[in-house]
Amino acid sequence: MVAKNLLLMAAAGCVLSVAGIAVAQSPSKAIILKPSPEAEAAEAAADEAAKAVAVSETISEDTKAEHAEAAPAADGAAPADHAEKSHDDAGTAHHYVAPKQNWSFNGIFGTYDRASMQRGFQVYKEVCAACHSMSRLSYRNLADLGYTEGEIKAIAADVMVTDGPNDDGEMYERPGRPSDHFKSPYPNPQAAKSVNNGAYPADLSLLAKARQGGPDYIYAILTGYEEAPANKELLPGQHWNKAMAGNIIAMPAPLMAGQVAYGDGTDQTVDQYARDVAHFMMWAAEPKMESRKRTGVKVFLFLLVFTGVMYAVKRKIWSNVH
Ligand code: HEC
Repeated sequence: MVAKNLLLMAAAGCVLSVAGIAVAQSPSKAIILKPSPEAEAAEAAADEAAKAVAVSETISEDTKAEHAEAAPAADGAAPADHAEKSHDDAGTAHHYVAPKQNWSFNGIFGTYDRASMQRGFQVYKEVCAACHSMSRLSYRNLADLGYTEGEIKAIAADVMVTDGPNDDGEMYERPGRPSDHFKSPYPNPQAAKSVNNGAYPADLSLLAKARQGGPDYIYAILTGYEEAPANKELLPGQHWNKAMAGNIIAMPAPLMAGQVAYGDGTDQTVDQYARDVAHFMMWAAEPKMESRKRTGVKVFLFLLVFTGVMYAVKRKIWSNVH
């Protein structure tokens, strides 16, 4: 009897940990239980209440905005316009959720696709690197993508980096080495902003981990450019992007079909470029993902075997008692 219970508990433990791993893998796929009618009714009531609160908040914000406008009224209509616009932005900011893409690195056993990452690096180097730094990467990290030492030396040597000071106290330019970090297109953040209409092109090293949706979001931004709706007016340097919070982005659509010449015959479309560069950025943000997953699977197998061994030990020890 005790043995049976133990066995049941062990089995339940295994099932739970498998479920746990599955949920941990994709937080959005949490198990949703069907609510009972009462629970649904309660939820609806809560929703109504939330709406009421939201409405009253909007009203109080509106009054706040009015107060704010009242003060600089002498300046004319500009502040009013501004308040209205930020309201609009807040309204659209949270609606867009980047659709999930089918990445090779999804799931417990998912791995990176070396060929896609090499193409992604090519896209970064030839397109994005004009505006975005990726300063947490060194050229030697590219070995992970399957490049040989010679290839990496050549890639690094193609870039002139600033080094120094030399014995005369002066900085000088020299060809890059594998140990150098990726060269930034700007000397400092202020320079970056000043050539991009005041918007800062983020460092791309960790962006795939820093943004909700990760690579799905990056893909969505790169493929999300659209004509602005008729009732929205864009200022010079603004572009309409359905994936961007607030829909207005300072980055001009960076990719065009045929822009980057792939050597391996892969489609040269915006869609493919976006997938490859997002794949590359995911690796950059989490280069040890594959070994993390391998360790996880090993730990799980170990626990499984260990459960069996401990069960056998328990039976052996207790066998004389019964
Ligand atoms: C002409 C310069 C330029 C190029 C080329 C460029 N970007 Fe950008 N990018 C920007 C600027 C400026 C912003 C900031 C936009 C904003 O804040 O409105 C930006 C924003 C972004 C964002 C959104 C960042 C965030 O904070 O959520 C992503 C993702 C991005 N770029 C990826 C890329 C990728 C990938 C490439 C290469 C395919 C690329 N960019 C090429 C200038 C550029």
